[in-house]
Amino acid sequence: MSVINYPQKVKIVEVGPRDGLQNEASMVATEAKVTLIEKLADAGLSVVEATSFVSPKWVPQMGDNAAVMAQIKRLPGVSYPVLTPNMKGFEAALAAGATEVAIFAAASESFSQKNINCSIAESIDRFTPIMAAAKANNIRVRGYVSCVLGCPYEGAVAPEVVADVAAKLYQMGCYEISLGDTIGVGTPLKAQAMVACVAKQVPLNALAIHFHDTYGQAMSNILACLQLGISTVDSSIAGLGGCPYAKGASGNVATEDVAYMLQGMGIDTGVNLEQLLSASRFISDVLQRRPISKVANALADDASN
Ligand code: HMG
Ligand code: MG
Repeated sequence: MSVINYPQKVKIVEVGPRDGLQNEASMVATEAKVTLIEKLADAGLSVVEATSFVSPKWVPQMGDNAAVMAQIKRLPGVSYPVLTPNMKGFEAALAAGATEVAIFAAASESFSQKNINCSIAESIDRFTPIMAAAKANNIRVRGYVSCVLGCPYEGAVAPEVVADVAAKLYQMGCYEISLGDTIGVGTPLKAQAMVACVAKQVPLNALAIHFHDTYGQAMSNILACLQLGISTVDSSIAGLGGCPYAKGASGNVATEDVAYMLQGMGIDTGVNLEQLLSASRFISDVLQRRPISKVANALADDASN
């Protein structure tokens, strides 16, 4: 019997088709992206981040954003958010039929400049008209904060800075703030301290955690944050991922691994592991490599024994 009160239910936000694929150097066919998104929704994930409406010069892999949105068969009750850095992206997302978008800021000035070519304050200014247009069009907006446990250019990041940026996004009207350890440098106690600091300004039930697994810390960090009452976790199928503007940001935590751990802990995610593994196999075949997920590899080895 556990002495720690874990949440009974956890929402997994699947970011593989966006955060995962944006980092792939060779172009993935639109058709494969569409099939992947549909398989992920079929597996029971209620949020599948589908693509991003950023500059195709900056991230060519996401250049087929409108085609992806046009082609996916949408399941009722499933949300397919897309990233929008500015009004141009928002308008394109709206025209493509998006009903949820995500704006993304950083807790480090250098990363903000490298990623979206503006300061943190300028990014907030850019998001203001997006929030107004989203409200007018009944579009839900999620907010991201990058570099919450470290920056590839500036090193350590103070939790108070993360809390301030998160609070700004929340006050602007984002329904959920995802805290991104973009380069995966965080460790469990630092992750807890950062979340506890942010939770002084943003309610815990409006916070999500987004760990990259660069240093193999993501699962431990997730467990530590669940202990604080976090109940929304971002992850990426097959452990795909990274950020093109953060050197070393390889691999988001794998959805299969998160789902397996939560299932083992008796925490409801609504996800069917078998179908998740089918999505993982599908995209791994497309990319012609094994998934980074330990669970996917263990169960594949089981099947071939
Ligand atoms: P900029 O160059 O400063 O923008 O880029 P600009 O307004 O000066 O426009 C320059 C050109 O881009 C113009 O075209 C615009 O039309 C075009 P031109 O006249 O040269 O032909 N443009 C656009 N085209 C399509 N869609 C748009 C758009 N906006 C301008 N929305 C900008 C600013 C933000 C656009 C650029 O820096 C950019 O696209 N950055 C991409 C950043 C990105 O996608 N990063 C990865 C996602 S974030 C992430 O992975 C972290 C996260 O996972 C959490 C975590 O792990 O921490 C979320
Ligand atoms: Mg990310």
